[in-house]
Amino acid sequence: MALSVGQVAKRSGVAVSALHFYEQKGLIHSWRNAGNQRRFKRDVLRRVSIIKAAQKLGISLEQIKQAFASLPDERTPTKDDWSLLSAYWHQLLDQRIKQLTQLRDNVSSCIGCGCLSLTACPLYNEEDKLADLGEGSHLLFD
Ligand code: FES
Repeated sequence: MALSVGQVAKRSGVAVSALHFYEQKGLIHSWRNAGNQRRFKRDVLRRVSIIKAAQKLGISLEQIKQAFASLPDERTPTKDDWSLLSAYWHQLLDQRIKQLTQLRDNVSSCIGCGCLSLTACPLYNEEDKLADLGEGSHLLFD
């Protein structure tokens, strides 16, 4: 059963304007019916849900688009198709998990940002010597 843009928005919790934006970006596809109204295949709900989840994790629309490029447009993606996509994302998500873990674990110590505000700073960043490495916090992530 084909869905209208309103039905996709209601079921996915994503605004119609965002769905139009995703379509503009080539992340989802629709066609026009005899009444010139946009219609989507039901599997668009899965794509939209994954876009939403990925964006929440900070994955860019460009990275999502690259991943979706492995999915077939002319038919509903199968489990194998999605496995292919998840293999592509495995590395990306592993990196993201590692960064989140480091943020969680390193935020209570010196992150090498130049503030010299923690008692640990003289140990790790004496007189902000890490400034020689350039801008940013040099100890937050490996
Ligand atoms: S936390 Fe900023 S320099 Fe140590």
